[in-house]
Amino acid sequence: MGIVWHEQVKEFHLFNEEISYVMKILPNGQLGHLYFGQRVPLDADYSYLVETCYRPTTAYVFPGVGGLSLEHVRQEYPAYGTTDFRMPAYELLQPNGSRITDFVYVSHKITQGKPRLEGLPATYTEKPEEASTLAIRLRDEVLQVEIVLSYTIFSQLNVISRSVEFSNQGETTCYLNRAMSMSLDLPDRDYAFMQLSGWWGRERAVHTRKLTPGIHSIGSLRGQSGHVHNPLMLLKRPHTDEFQGEAIGCSLVYSGNFLAQAEVDTFDVTRLTMGIHPFQFSWQLKAGERFQTPEAVMVYTPRGLNDLSQTFHKLYAQHLVRGKWRDAVRPILINNWEATYFDFDEEKLLAIARKAQAAGIELFVLDDGWFSTRRNDTSGLGDWWANTELLPGGIKGLAAKINALGMKFGLWVELEMVNKDSDLYRQHPDWILHTPCRRDSHGRNQYVLDFSRPEVVDYIYQSIAKILHGANVEYIKWDMNRSITECFSAAYPAEQQGEIFHRYILGVYSLYERLLQEFPHILFESCASGGGRFDPGMLYYAPQAWTSDDSDGIERLKIQYGTSYAYPLATMGTHVSVTPNHQVLRNTSLKLRGDVAYFGTFGYEMDLGKLTAAELAEVREQIAFMKRYRNLIHSGTFYRLESPFTGNITAWMVVARDQRTAIVGYYKILNEVCAPYRRLKLYGLLPDCPYTVLEDGMHKGIFHGSELMHVGLVTTDYSAGEAKRDTGEFCTDFWSRLYVLKACEG
Ligand code: DGJ
Repeated sequence: MGIVWHEQVKEFHLFNEEISYVMKILPNGQLGHLYFGQRVPLDADYSYLVETCYRPTTAYVFPGVGGLSLEHVRQEYPAYGTTDFRMPAYELLQPNGSRITDFVYVSHKITQGKPRLEGLPATYTEKPEEASTLAIRLRDEVLQVEIVLSYTIFSQLNVISRSVEFSNQGETTCYLNRAMSMSLDLPDRDYAFMQLSGWWGRERAVHTRKLTPGIHSIGSLRGQSGHVHNPLMLLKRPHTDEFQGEAIGCSLVYSGNFLAQAEVDTFDVTRLTMGIHPFQFSWQLKAGERFQTPEAVMVYTPRGLNDLSQTFHKLYAQHLVRGKWRDAVRPILINNWEATYFDFDEEKLLAIARKAQAAGIELFVLDDGWFSTRRNDTSGLGDWWANTELLPGGIKGLAAKINALGMKFGLWVELEMVNKDSDLYRQHPDWILHTPCRRDSHGRNQYVLDFSRPEVVDYIYQSIAKILHGANVEYIKWDMNRSITECFSAAYPAEQQGEIFHRYILGVYSLYERLLQEFPHILFESCASGGGRFDPGMLYYAPQAWTSDDSDGIERLKIQYGTSYAYPLATMGTHVSVTPNHQVLRNTSLKLRGDVAYFGTFGYEMDLGKLTAAELAEVREQIAFMKRYRNLIHSGTFYRLESPFTGNITAWMVVARDQRTAIVGYYKILNEVCAPYRRLKLYGLLPDCPYTVLEDGMHKGIFHGSELMHVGLVTTDYSAGEAKRDTGEFCTDFWSRLYVLKACEG
């Protein structure tokens, strides 16, 4: 792995065992893109990929006919208006009103490892040999502004991460109206664009469409990455599937407004751009100031979508999630939200906790409603002190009682928000984001605190730190239950209002960072009305995220399947909840709900005291199963096998790193009559190794890895024959099976 600079032909070649990324300084001094894909020879000159033939109506950079047109060459960080007419990577508004720039190569630096990004989440390395970084300095002489394009190539992963820094070394103030984290010009458009889109309760559904000329984009203007689109854009070739074929994935390590876009031009070049959404964005860059974009991650694979996802999983699990909890066993938790909503007192909570502890649950999480006057969603947000009528000993007292039961204690917070009916709002009405002299829109009766102001962040830090210093809290669920409207800060002048969305999220990151520094033992789980901020930026601070408020087992198949395109199982909050389910009112078996929730962090969202003895026994077995296999599930290799978006069957599996154990989840949505005989091809096993296969705990047989991978595991169920009403053999709608494969010893 490394980075080669070919001085003579002015080409950079980033490479590892499998991939190459080639760039060139163009005749006008700007940076051109030549290639991204499977590894190609290092010593070759790829200048022939700069295409300069004459095309009618084209505008050219140099005097004379023909030559260099930026419209027709692929570039690394393109500008609009100097012969390129596509959407640019950046736009810099200058004091005279011009937006024309000319950033040319000045120098570059190659270093081992990867520098951190100040104040922003980013992937990291721990040893220098894990990655190499190239920083290319470009300069606009007229403006005396510099751009540093940073590229990191990882040695063991097919990943190149990028970010951009602008620095104003001149004497005038400029405005950055657009500052994308990446731009990538691909030589053709023979791709389908895959995105994860949805809404509350149906987050990250997979949508695919073929690229055609024009622009296809997704993004967020909600102040959070949001439920609607995830900051992930996947391109796949027409023949690519989960197991083979080329694919490219771009992911933004950011939690605020974003844009992810593919522009196909009339010559079939596909330009991918990703970064902070330029709409409503404008950053004042005064003399001497810098602006750092968030990081974008690009993954390339020739081996299909599972391989692409596995690369994201390894990167995010090992080079993004930080601290003690990156490698620690994640506790099985119980959360009281769906069990009680706001209707609880200490006795009720302790009763739930006792039952949970007896079943083997390790962490009790107290959700919304424990503080100030918060007995419903109309008041109290912002006032972070315990309601001692409900909890006589405060959080300290309750945590101690939970600890005495032998469980950890966790707490829900929503630190970015305030109800108008709160002491905080009454004291600081200008601390919310709102536009002067206009109505403030609310979401769930709450308003957004102005986290662009350091004094607001500091106040919230002090109030929550007081609780955390005074009580043994080992887990925090950090919620965020509305999108941002009327985004305006009383603390900034008119010309900086375009900075507020970004400054807001920087404030959120700074609060997380401060809390992590002070309380490194706490496990954070991020949440935003379920999965409204499930993005790589959050994972840098909170190792797990609440995947969705929809905990119905069948709905969760799609939600977890979609989420798995970029995010590892150890990051997905998955709970077993009651039936009828509170979101879709569906009845499913406890078994199905457990079989789905195993493929995540695992926990319960119910009062176990309301279960029958038989159900409680089943819960105890589920917990024992998860304790035995959670290491494998959280660190193994995950394969999607059958998609809930295309058929009646969903299947996935996790294979242990040593490939000697694997767990397969198999789910059938609706029952059928005289259904087909079915086989499920497995992946990632040792071909010559015999495996004992347990089907729902029962011995099914011994099969070689090659049999299971090439012939397939026979999954035919009773619905393949005539219904047997009297034998007890049955299968129903919403039905699941769990297979455990263990390599035979010897
Ligand atoms: C939204 C979350 O997604 C729920 O799990 C719960 O914590 C509620 N907020 C509490 O208000």
